[in-house]
Amino acid sequence: MTRGDHRPCDARVVVLGHSGFLGAEILLRLRQADVNAEGISSAQCDLLDMEQVAEYFSGVTGRFQVVFCAARTRQRGQSFDSMTQNIRMIQNFLHAVPRQQLDSVVYLSSVDVYGSHPKLPISENSPSRPHNSYGISKLCGEYLLALPGLESCPAAILRLPGVYGSGDQALSVVGRLFQQMCRDGRVKIVGDGRVRRDFLEVGDLCSVVRRVLEQPFTGTLNIVTGQSITVIELVHMLSAATRLSPAIEFVDADSQQVGDLIFDATAMRSRFPDLQLMPVQHGIAKYISTSTLMEDMDRHG
Ligand SMILES: NC(=O)c1ccc[n+]([C@@H]2O[C@H](COP(=O)([O-])OP(=O)(O)OC[C@H]3O[C@@H](n4cnc5c(N)ncnc54)[C@H](OP(=O)(O)O)[C@@H]3O)[C@@H](O)[C@H]2O)c1
Repeated sequence: MTRGDHRPCDARVVVLGHSGFLGAEILLRLRQADVNAEGISSAQCDLLDMEQVAEYFSGVTGRFQVVFCAARTRQRGQSFDSMTQNIRMIQNFLHAVPRQQLDSVVYLSSVDVYGSHPKLPISENSPSRPHNSYGISKLCGEYLLALPGLESCPAAILRLPGVYGSGDQALSVVGRLFQQMCRDGRVKIVGDGRVRRDFLEVGDLCSVVRRVLEQPFTGTLNIVTGQSITVIELVHMLSAATRLSPAIEFVDADSQQVGDLIFDATAMRSRFPDLQLMPVQHGIAKYISTSTLMEDMDRHG
């Protein structure tokens, strides 16, 4: 079978990083769809420990697919160490995974690989110029997956913008602003709030992952809505949806602040023509309806 062939999603799916925001949601949705899926995080197998990785994969029988969500992420702080750790996790995986059993890999990468001021609109053909250690680690992961060795196994690179949704622990931009609004009655915006961003709802990412598992491919895809809004617009949307009127505090941005991220979503639409990604207004309504923050506010007056 060659790269890109259609394979049904009947093999077992291993979600690496299932205790995190995206891995947990992906695993949950796969199981809800009756996919035979299991989750692995550092408690079960530390991907930084080659022996543990080898031991885990030596116990995997039959054919399987992998969704690679494990990483030290930007939201939880970035450093030179977290960059090298992210690279090592991929190296150890590639070293230990039994390739004859591996049907496909889905790798969660990031639009950080495009750098801080990419030429707009951004497409999959835009040059990669990561400006921070996290972006470098994601790009290295992409390159490592493209090395010879996985030739007969489709490896899809999904480059994600900021993902939000229930379970994000207010680490997403949407979640952080919503939490500040409810808890503090004010929101903090870094810079002048005019930078544009594309926000992806976590349920949409899960739908995309599911489809890629059903029809694996080798290549890179930006998983974006194609609708970029400013942070100020986002605050206004949250404010309208919650009927709260937070004070806005602007904090000076450092010189590293990322500029507008506006995407050409053509590749995404042509790969999944029938998939409607959720506009951020709807995503916000869903976010609020699943959060307990508003109820807590009502309870405590
Ligand atoms: N969230 C976003 O907006 C976003 C945007 C772009 C790209 N991404 C990418 O999407 C992926 C998932 O992001 P996330 O937001 O879900 O991150 P997260 O909540 O921080 O979860 C990271 C996961 O990686 C696991 N992990 C970390 N170190 C590990 C190790 N040494 N061995 C095994 N597992 C390890 C963690 O497990 P433990 O807790 O057990 O350590 C956790 O399950 C990441 O690759 C990230 O770069 C996310």
